[in-house]
Amino acid sequence: MSPFQTRTAPTTAIHVDYRSPTTDDGIRLWEIASDSKVLDVNSSYSYVLWCHDFASTSIVAEVDSRTVGFVTGYRRPDDPAILMVWQVAVDDTYRGHRIAATMLHRLLDRTAHDGVIAMNTTISPDNVASQRLFESVATARGLRFTRRDLFPADAFPDAHQPEDLYLLEPVTDAN
Ligand SMILES: CC(C)(COP(=O)(O)OP(=O)(O)OC[C@H]1O[C@@H](n2cnc3c(N)ncnc32)[C@H](O)[C@@H]1OP(=O)(O)O)[C@@H](O)C(=O)NCCC(=O)NCCS
Repeated sequence: MSPFQTRTAPTTAIHVDYRSPTTDDGIRLWEIASDSKVLDVNSSYSYVLWCHDFASTSIVAEVDSRTVGFVTGYRRPDDPAILMVWQVAVDDTYRGHRIAATMLHRLLDRTAHDGVIAMNTTISPDNVASQRLFESVATARGLRFTRRDLFPADAFPDAHQPEDLYLLEPVTDAN
């Protein structure tokens, strides 16, 4: 994850459909990640596999039957009440229409039925757009939004930004 993107206001309203991914979406997820020039681009196989195995904790956005955005997530094996977001991206043409925020809200609404109460993600320090996105979702849902160090740059074998852990969690007496 990485650099700050310029924010442009949308000029027209668009109709967006949201649904769980199928394996057929894997190719588009790989394309959107690749086109973003920001995300780590994983193997095409990983996106196809993700759509197959983690469809219930992932979501795609469609405009005119074309997938234009996605969120890939999983429930943490050590704490299934937490939905970990692996990647979120929206095709450049459709940014600014609240598609990313809506995908995250819908995913939280859907997984709440299975006991999910919190969301985690990692974001690099220079990805302001992503930080604002998750902060916005936390604020709208009355969740506490905090950052912790997680993976420093030297955790990676290549030139990679650190990945900080962001937590969106219910406010309790304990926190
Ligand atoms: C980050 C990204 C997913 C946002 O998608 P989007 O659909 O345009 O975002 P939304 O319209 O839902 O915006 C939600 C919130 O984030 C904020 N935001 C989104 N992009 C922003 C930007 N470039 N700069 C500042 N704030 C931004 C919005 O202002 C909004 O906040 P608000 O509720 O306080 O008004 C998109 O820019 C993207 O795909 N970037 C490349 C991939 C990436 O960096 N992914 C995140 C790391 S995995």
